Amino acid sequence: MAERKIKILPESLSNQIAAGEVIDRPSSVLKELIENAIDAGATEIVIRVADGGKSLIQVVDNGCGMVEEDAILAFERHSTSKISEPKDLARIATMGFRGEALASIASVSRVEIKTRVADEDTATHLVLEGGVIRQHGRTAANPGTSIAVKSLFFNTPARRKFLKSDLAEYRHLLQVAYRYFLSFPDISFRFYKNEQEIYNLPAATLRERIGQIFGEKYAENVLEVNLQTNRGNVTGLVGNMDLFRQSRGEQFLFLNRRYIVNKSLNWAIISAYGSMLPQGAYPFYVINLELDPEKVDVNVHPSKIEVRFEDERGVYVLVHHAVKSALTHAGVAPVLHLEVPSDAAEKEIPLLGEEVGKESANTQTSLLETEKKKTVFPEQTELAFPFEFRHQRRQVDIPEEPKRREKGERADGPQYFEREKGEQVSVWQLHNKYLLSQIKSGLIVVDQHLAHERILYEQALQRLESSRPISQQKLFPKTVELAPEDFELLIEMQFYLSRLGFVVREFGKNTVLIEAVPVELKNREEEQVLREMIDDFRESKEPDIRERIAKTYACKSAIKAGDPLSQEEMIALIDNLFATRNPYFCPHGRPIIVTIPLEELDKRFLRI
Ligand SMILES: Nc1ncnc2c1ncn2[C@@H]1O[C@H](COP(=O)(O)OP(=O)(O)OP(=O)(O)O)[C@@H](O)[C@H]1O
Ligand SMILES: [Mg+2]
Repeated sequence: MAERKIKILPESLSNQIAAGEVIDRPSSVLKELIENAIDAGATEIVIRVADGGKSLIQVVDNGCGMVEEDAILAFERHSTSKISEPKDLARIATMGFRGEALASIASVSRVEIKTRVADEDTATHLVLEGGVIRQHGRTAANPGTSIAVKSLFFNTPARRKFLKSDLAEYRHLLQVAYRYFLSFPDISFRFYKNEQEIYNLPAATLRERIGQIFGEKYAENVLEVNLQTNRGNVTGLVGNMDLFRQSRGEQFLFLNRRYIVNKSLNWAIISAYGSMLPQGAYPFYVINLELDPEKVDVNVHPSKIEVRFEDERGVYVLVHHAVKSALTHAGVAPVLHLEVPSDAAEKEIPLLGEEVGKESANTQTSLLETEKKKTVFPEQTELAFPFEFRHQRRQVDIPEEPKRREKGERADGPQYFEREKGEQVSVWQLHNKYLLSQIKSGLIVVDQHLAHERILYEQALQRLESSRPISQQKLFPKTVELAPEDFELLIEMQFYLSRLGFVVREFGKNTVLIEAVPVELKNREEEQVLREMIDDFRESKEPDIRERIAKTYACKSAIKAGDPLSQEEMIALIDNLFATRNPYFCPHGRPIIVTIPLEELDKRFLRI
């Protein structure tokens, strides 16, 4: 007789399986713990992580805490205090609601919880292992909750194997932490890595919070977005062109303060920059979209990072217009404030207050269509930005991937830097800082440092791909002593440095020997460059290590403002610049070239 095969899984196993969906790495544990703290009404949250979160992720809050029975129940699956009947699911106002995060976390780690409600004198203390309570008692603690998750995935080796290096996991942790730092600037956060305080962020406004995390430059270069309509509100801060970056990572979109990923809304924001944004660049933004919870479904994805909107188009238009009007009203005009045709502004899409408020489906469709057209044919857009950017977008198609070019062959230069074969071109240096040169249509002004940085950056990226470094042996190798932390960083960078052409060997405790340097570096102080690269590498928030090395190298070894250049050097610099894949922006997104067209001069001298 055939035997029955199907059985119900023991709870510990089904929890482990469920954990697979929600908890895939230390950062997802951090996410869940922070969200619970926020839901508990915390105003102060302390985060501690160690070894990339593999050995410890702890979140301490001053929220409402739990009584003993609740603390025990919290680790059961489907236990939640946040919803209780079906209709609650349609109007979720808390971060959590599924009642499974703690059960999932506990099933794959060792957890210690101390939790106290304000009107009790002591805290409940539990220690769990693989979801099973091992210790149970009372202890002294402040009101609130502390949950420490230790030895993550100790009982699921397969999952543990998928974890990346501590550094990589740490970056994920930070990325997640940033989201809450930014969506809850009114909560004070402290963040410790291996016992070392990394962030201490007192409660602040969003602009202040951005300054606390990314530095003053960011706080100064963001514009306020604030659009309140009967369909929802869009608030936040968006970066101007000084914050353009060539890699993603500084875009934060929140729906009712929950971080979400949504390509269409991301595009709604990015496209609001129009032709001001060079191809391949990304703006900085922190945007919170406030919608009636009944009009969105956050229960689409176990980690709630994807959401569904009842009126996707309406939301698109709302966000797009909020950002666009912020940029237009602020008159974000990069570099030269050249005049634009006076009718340009009128061609802008009407502001949202008038359009979206009418709730007309037709209007929305047509607005969306207009938008699509605009992005496909950017030359049709007439925005109030200096035209060199439009010009660039119109004529230059910058390839996605770095393209090798033969020496002398120029990329997108001709329109700018056309010259006949054999024609003598003149370049002037202004204040040892800018290069001026005549082009067919007028004059270009090039920032010499940024130009060289762009050239070296692309070179570095190429070298990191190939394994044929071009270096120059030093006659007298140089010993350099470093601080222990710097020494470790250098060891981490060593492989990539060797690809660039640095031959750096360990030479005793915290000391290295520089035996060879990239050929381009021959006239620069190699020790200085190396030290600056270490500093820059340490500070950099760029997640891709090659990018980080290439940027650091380019920035630190490029000629500086103030370096006098010979005529040949200047011509070579400009030629090489136009042989790069994007001569217009440095790797950090700053403009390299400003064009002053002849008509502009003619206009100023009242010739036309
Ligand atoms: N830091 C905390 N302070 C107070 N109560 C907490 C805290 N963390 C968890 N809880 C309680 O434990 C319950 C279970 O938490 P858990 O994270 O597992 O589920 P949830 O937050 O309700 O839903 P989700 O699975 O979507 O996160 C919560 O509903 C809450 O009542
Ligand atoms: Mg939760």
